[in-house]
Amino acid sequence: MSRRLPAADLLALGSYLRRTAGLELDEARRPGLSAVVLDRLAATGQPDVAHYLRMLDAPGGAAERQRLLDEVTIQETHFHRGRPQIDALRRHLLPELLARAAAERRELVVWSAGCATGEEPYTLAMLLLEVAATLPDPPPVRVVGTDVSTAALEVARAATYSGRTVALAEPEAVQRWLHRDPDGTHVVRDEVRRLVHLQHHNLVTDPPPFSAGGVDLVVCRHVTIYFSRDTTRAVVTRFRQVLAPGGWLLLGPAETLWQVSEEFATVQLGDAFAYRPARAQRPGGPRRARPLPPPTRAARPVAPRPAAVRPTAADPGTTLAGAHAAFDAGDYEAAAVAAAALTATGTALPDDLHTAALCLLGHARLNRGDPVAAVAPLQRAVYLDPRAGHAHFLLAVALAGAGKARPAAASYRAAAATLAGAPTDAVRRILDGRQVEELVQLCRRLADDADVAGGTVRRGA
Ligand SMILES: C[S@@+](CC[C@H](N)C(=O)[O-])C[C@H]1O[C@@H](n2cnc3c(N)ncnc32)[C@H](O)[C@@H]1O
Repeated sequence: MSRRLPAADLLALGSYLRRTAGLELDEARRPGLSAVVLDRLAATGQPDVAHYLRMLDAPGGAAERQRLLDEVTIQETHFHRGRPQIDALRRHLLPELLARAAAERRELVVWSAGCATGEEPYTLAMLLLEVAATLPDPPPVRVVGTDVSTAALEVARAATYSGRTVALAEPEAVQRWLHRDPDGTHVVRDEVRRLVHLQHHNLVTDPPPFSAGGVDLVVCRHVTIYFSRDTTRAVVTRFRQVLAPGGWLLLGPAETLWQVSEEFATVQLGDAFAYRPARAQRPGGPRRARPLPPPTRAARPVAPRPAAVRPTAADPGTTLAGAHAAFDAGDYEAAAVAAAALTATGTALPDDLHTAALCLLGHARLNRGDPVAAVAPLQRAVYLDPRAGHAHFLLAVALAGAGKARPAAASYRAAAATLAGAPTDAVRRILDGRQVEELVQLCRRLADDADVAGGTVRRGA
């Protein structure tokens, strides 16, 4: 049997995941979702997706509902993730917030929303301890880490780490805040753990776990990239409501409030961007925001990102970056228009930019639900750069979606052979939280499945 679910099942699952967790199904994620759900059908004994979805919604379906969410959410994270943002926290945000809470003689509250396996709230606690040590009379501090995945929260509660996440942590912080056990694993020290409170929370369906104005800093990074613009807007509005006057919001570098919310002003802090409430709310709403402090050299308000994605006479690299930003913000239409215009200039583009623009065009068309139209640009991309593993992968997804199982099998195999060498940024958009090696394995499996599906089609014809 093919390991790919029929389009109608994927559609039903997509709308279920959107409704229950705000998750949008990027086309490139569908093969992985098919594999997960087929395993869950086998484990629960449900005959098909329709029965499975009914079971999830029925009383008693909570455990399986959570199990599915644990499987489909992406827990990719590590200590000290995003160096420019860590610098902004250390140099600007935390000193300012700690000083204000100390002056007001109250606790400082930080919310790590979508904290995955805990590295983000523990990193925040380490930074807070570090900055607080420079103050004469630091305030008490609480970091609340929340996530929709109970599996991730279990890891966070154990606070025991090894491998890549520790390797990517700041070495001084590893020395100071992690204890190395004889088996080589690292355990977060009690001093840090004491500050961190972990709890289950769904950003899309649960009310915020704070009262209005109760949080000084919301850190929500690499979470809204999986949401639609409308879902992100609703989530960000709740962040605005719980933020204290003068509070801050930090999103991931690929996430932007451009065309999402006008309730925040963008502030550049070194190489990072942060957001703060732009204006007071109406009477009757949460506490009124105080006027913003005058801009300093370190913190200057800037125009919202990203730059216009309309292709202009501008440098093609800049246009492509704008198109990628539109894609990352979920605006596949704008991304496709800009990428198509770039690819139309064809030979004027250097090969690497041309391949990247073709891949983006194909991926944006896939995400708009048009695999047939995605095939041509992706075929051109692999012709231009036969080593572009991400292009082979997207082409395989497009071909499978267009019902061309046998060519899809060949493309999955080409992807498996070339993915390791693909550019990091391009691969990021298709990795779906896996390591490259895991995606390579998945491509091999999908190639075998597509071969079987191709054979079945031939036999039945
Ligand atoms: C890629 S991780 C990001 C972890 C961390 N913030 C970081 O930047 O390293 C995304 C996390 O968001 C969580 N998530 C996804 N949808 C969510 C929702 N509706 N409510 C709460 N958390 C959610 C996932 O379970 C996952 O742990």
